[in-house]
Amino acid sequence: MNRYARIIGTGGYLPEKVLTNNDISLMVDTSDSWIFERTGIKSRHIADATETASSMAEIAARDALAAAQIEPDAVDLIIVATGTPDRVYPSTGCILQQRLGIKNAVAFDVQAACSGSVFALSIADQYIKSGAAKTALIVGTELCSRIVDWADRSTCVLFGDGAGALLLQASDQQGVLSTHIHSDGEFGNLLYCPNPQVSPEANNAHGYITMQGNEVFKVAVNTLGKIVDETLAANHLELSAIDWLVPHQANIRIIAATAKKLKMPMEQVVVTLETQGNTSSASVLLAFNEAVRDNRIQRGQIVLLEAFGAGFTWGSALIRY
Ligand code: UT7
Repeated sequence: MNRYARIIGTGGYLPEKVLTNNDISLMVDTSDSWIFERTGIKSRHIADATETASSMAEIAARDALAAAQIEPDAVDLIIVATGTPDRVYPSTGCILQQRLGIKNAVAFDVQAACSGSVFALSIADQYIKSGAAKTALIVGTELCSRIVDWADRSTCVLFGDGAGALLLQASDQQGVLSTHIHSDGEFGNLLYCPNPQVSPEANNAHGYITMQGNEVFKVAVNTLGKIVDETLAANHLELSAIDWLVPHQANIRIIAATAKKLKMPMEQVVVTLETQGNTSSASVLLAFNEAVRDNRIQRGQIVLLEAFGAGFTWGSALIRY
């Protein structure tokens, strides 16, 4: 009997405060039209001073647990993807474990920038398929607003805060069909966020996101096109088999290029970018949760998740929901 990791619940959390493009245009030399035309973003959510990656993760996780109708203690694997951990250590995974009161689980973080939740999903899938775990909680949680330079118009307009969660459980029914994750450290300097406490580089005094946006853009479009091919080939599927594309939400032009590669109308693409911006590792899980909750994604449908981020890292997951 085949053993699959099947999705049993999704959850999400977005902070209350909304920052519009017009709000940002009062802070730096930019405009609503520039931001919207170049990125597809209109507004984003910003956490308040009391919120942390783990506090947002807890809300998203509890939302997923309620949707799955299981108790926290049923979870035996917790993987948190974040670039903005509460502490250097312990991991945000362990802090989340404590917040949820889960005793019999192993918890850790993965660091794969915007691809983090797809990496976490891939790891959880391997654990479940092998029998090493039964019920996995994956969370992507990000306080991007704390690591952007609010004086740098080339990055501060792009990002937002939020957390997405997914619960996977061992099943004999199909769930995750395949995952594909990759990295290439060669491109590390095109997109990075220094750790000012430990970095020896003098210009890294501030821990802000630094990005050569147009270079990242070109590699992202190219790479995401290739991962679509890789994922379909691994599953011996035609383009038409995919019901939904749930992409990382960095730029509507990158998303549209991937949809075009899939010959998919934008109606089959889940886009949250306009109101959320780029929430890094949270974005794919937030988008997936939104489309499950509003009944666009139906049980039995085939969903392609993909992401691209600093590292570079990139990955996909093909799921029969
Ligand atoms: O999630 C992780 C992966 N990240 C990504 O995938 C992001 C990929 N990159 C992008 O999405 C795009 O490259 C950006 C949205 C970041 C930038 O768009 P672009 O079309 O590549 O613009 P650009 O960086 O080439 O800049 C074009 C112009 C520049 O002015 P000049 O040199 O042509 O005079 C910038 O200084 O736009 C200027 N600019 C702005 N103008 C108004 C840059 N940021 C802004 C701004 N408002 N916020």
